[in-house]
Amino acid sequence: LPHFVSVEKLTVDQINALIDRAEYFKQGGATPTLTQPVYVTNMFFENSTRTHTSFAMAEKKLGLTEIPFDAAHSSMSKGETLYDTCLVMNALGVDLSVIRASENAYYGPLINPGAGQHLNLGIVNAGDGSGQHPSQSLLDMMTIHEHFGRFNGLKVAIVGDITNSRVARSNMEILTRLGAEVYFSGPDYWYDHRFDQYGKYLPVDELVDQVDVLMLLRVQHERHAGDANESSFDAAKYHQQYGINHDRYARLKDDCLIMHPGPINHDVELAGDLVEAPKSAFFKQMQNGVFMRMAMLEAVVRGRHLGGLQ
Ligand code: CP
Repeated sequence: LPHFVSVEKLTVDQINALIDRAEYFKQGGATPTLTQPVYVTNMFFENSTRTHTSFAMAEKKLGLTEIPFDAAHSSMSKGETLYDTCLVMNALGVDLSVIRASENAYYGPLINPGAGQHLNLGIVNAGDGSGQHPSQSLLDMMTIHEHFGRFNGLKVAIVGDITNSRVARSNMEILTRLGAEVYFSGPDYWYDHRFDQYGKYLPVDELVDQVDVLMLLRVQHERHAGDANESSFDAAKYHQQYGINHDRYARLKDDCLIMHPGPINHDVELAGDLVEAPKSAFFKQMQNGVFMRMAMLEAVVRGRHLGGLQ
């Protein structure tokens, strides 16, 4: 792959190959031998703990060279555009940029430069606004595959602030293609019936004892500017109506996985004392993220014939 910006264009075979490769790395499989250096910048214009550190770890394990980039102190604060910033990286000899930005599909002009533009930089999308979060989606698929060994027929509920979630958007699409049955739940004002093509929208209490995977989403207050529901948001009420409390936790199937991309709002999406409970897979997701990001970066390194790899 010359870039890795979305899961939508991946075939099912490519998704399964990435999961296999990530599982191989997790089991201690050898990384490819690079005969030339590959330089990477991690350009995060939105805050991140998991994704940023996980990409940095994946780069280190693959033998790529991370060139530090401090988004907050970059010249974008003086008005330089993202495209021009990427041209700078290109001129300095950077091969790949891992980018998180708040604008949906920010990567469009970077991967399809216009007439007379010559940007030549591999782009890996670490999250674009409410658009896509391909690395989170693929590490989620790896975590489900590791637990169940299949996707076909699994019932997966996506619960919470769905309209604003790039994780939900990537996952509903990929899970459907992999043969899982998708369900949705949460406040109706954060659900969009355009998602009906992927699954049914049901009350959370009708789903908890039926599903194999419960994907909780963070309430994304930072994306609620102008949303009338933000000013009346009541965390305790949300938790009581849609959150996983002890009663709902007890009704989950024995082998149910609770997933969450993080960060978790304690006692909102999930009771705070259930974060490390046996059915909570959050730390497994984070651990798998390193190996999935290695597989994704390797695919782009190979796709661009970098590091002496074919
Ligand atoms: N899951 C996720 O994207 O977490 P961070 O915002 O901490 O990277």
